[in-house]
Amino acid sequence: MQALGIDIGGSGIKGAVVDLETGQLATERHRIDTPQPSKPDAVAAVVKQLARHFNWSGATGCTFPAIVRHGVTMTAANVDKSWIGVQAEQLFATATGNPVRLLNDADAAGVAEMTYGAGRGRSGMVMILTFGTGIGSAIFHDGKLLPNTEFGHLPMPMKGIIAEHYCSDRVRKAEDLKWGEWARRVNNYFEVLELLLSPDVIVVGGGVSKKAEKFLPLLKAQATIVQAELQNDAGIVGAAMAAHDMVRIKSE
Ligand code: BGC
Repeated sequence: MQALGIDIGGSGIKGAVVDLETGQLATERHRIDTPQPSKPDAVAAVVKQLARHFNWSGATGCTFPAIVRHGVTMTAANVDKSWIGVQAEQLFATATGNPVRLLNDADAAGVAEMTYGAGRGRSGMVMILTFGTGIGSAIFHDGKLLPNTEFGHLPMPMKGIIAEHYCSDRVRKAEDLKWGEWARRVNNYFEVLELLLSPDVIVVGGGVSKKAEKFLPLLKAQATIVQAELQNDAGIVGAAMAAHDMVRIKSE
């Protein structure tokens, strides 16, 4: 069984056909820059271009870096504000001519990691955090997802800013933080998270997870901390899973 997975981010839109028996990509990934400004029609045109690139007709899953309820994008932290309130699932279905499932990007990465990656076989509470332009979160209890959590927007006590403005990978680069300094910030963030939730495992994903050897030994929490395994492909794979209803994301 295969599906097309498309991962929409603030800087790039990536896609591939995914083999859902194995969670492996069945084609090369193809990436197109996110149009700037990232308005709905411009992004939909890129999604269409990707479906054409793969000559794909059939089940298609798309991620989006926002809260997604009933196919509607409800927020827009790192994309054009005009996305708020758009029936984006329908927009992409019309653009591609394919049935589309839309879900939050971190939820997609989370379900992929839980099925094929670092969360495989793990019970209890597993929290996947994606450190990129923002910080995405996905929480699983005994393998079941609690959709649309937004723990990247957790206010950091005494700092007056939310977590993703304090310790995302974008902030690390923009402020030219050394790995030790960035890890110290992430540890502060983990402390706040652990005050509110008691994860058994924290999976560190997103773009930064490619460089895990630089910072993983510096991270501290009561939870077991592990590196995401699917890294850049997690969103694509999770999107493809959603396309085939392997995850029930919609809160209907
Ligand atoms: C958004 C989340 C998203 C995360 C990672 C945040 O700014 O609010 O919905 O999962 O960025 O892209």
